[in-house]
Amino acid sequence: MVLAVKSEGLKIGYLDEQDNVLWAVKGVNLEVSEGEIYCIVGESGSGKSTVALAISGILPPHAVTEGELYVYGNLVIRGESRSYEKIRGRLVTYIPQSPGTGLNPYLTLGDQFYHVLKSLRGSTRKEAKAEAKKYLEMAGLDPASTLDRYPHELSGGMQQRAAIALALSTGARVLVADEPTSSLDAHLRLQIANLLLRLREEVKLTVIFITHDLLLASRVGDRVAVMYAGSLAEVGKLREVLLKPLHPYTSMLVDVIPTLGVKKQLKCYSGEPPRPGSNDEGCPFFDRCPYRFSKCAAEKPRLSLAEGDRYVACWLYGNRE
Ligand SMILES: Nc1ncnc2c1ncn2[C@@H]1O[C@H](COP(=O)(O)OP(=O)(O)OP(=O)(O)O)[C@@H](O)[C@H]1O
Ligand SMILES: [Mg+2]
Repeated sequence: MVLAVKSEGLKIGYLDEQDNVLWAVKGVNLEVSEGEIYCIVGESGSGKSTVALAISGILPPHAVTEGELYVYGNLVIRGESRSYEKIRGRLVTYIPQSPGTGLNPYLTLGDQFYHVLKSLRGSTRKEAKAEAKKYLEMAGLDPASTLDRYPHELSGGMQQRAAIALALSTGARVLVADEPTSSLDAHLRLQIANLLLRLREEVKLTVIFITHDLLLASRVGDRVAVMYAGSLAEVGKLREVLLKPLHPYTSMLVDVIPTLGVKKQLKCYSGEPPRPGSNDEGCPFFDRCPYRFSKCAAEKPRLSLAEGDRYVACWLYGNRE
């Protein structure tokens, strides 16, 4: 099995004005296989985008890192140092949330492909056009009616497809999609999700899919990592996690998925996740957890194998190594 992305003890923080580090990601171990659609879910501020930016090589300069991150065996983060030469925009590519921002508003789609491919491979206009056609078709767009258009002349769904086509034309093997569908309606959301599934089949693309939408994740994802306050709370096969969440936080998330025709009491545990920079003793979910006991306050549980191939960071499951 080839690992597309792997991290060990990855910590990412941001420097504040006094040069203190506020850790947004607090020691994450990820293993994403080639061709896998790996979803990362969790509430706002849990560190999903920070992980996404780290994998894509576009953390801001005031970010600090610890631990290790590999993309296809290339060590891109090693402690404080980061080096993405020949990786960023080539092996791994990033699709942002808003469809338009992945595209340059002043260039037609054809020109965008030309600029990207000229700078990456020295392609001529003719070569770039042929590539553009191939990737636009792959993304389900008609090249004849889109190549000469500016992004604003396309619908949101078409823009997101075009951004995916442009990203793929770089030859990237890993696509990091940070809430790529949150600004689209439900129908387009499904279309983009289906496109990612097809691309995985056709070109063995690995997709890191960040979303708030567990229901959508369940349609595309192979595995899911549930993040809470900068740590992984649970990792497992998506269907299994949805059918039988183990971590109390995952169970809260799963419970708010609407089920048609079924009235149910929604679970919502009051309280807020700890802020970055707050003390790190004990389980981060302690304040909100209905099942907490004394050990949970004293010691932070590590992500460890609970049953089958499910990993959980919770003392309820013994938290074996
Ligand atoms: N550029 C930045 N500078 C300083 N702090 C940041 C920066 N980006 C994120 N943070 C902080 O890091 C933490 C994690 O943020 P992140 O954007 O990774 O969360 P997220 O899970 O993607 O949230 P959302 O679901 O809202 O997109 C938050 O506390 C956030 O305020
Ligand atoms: Mg985010």
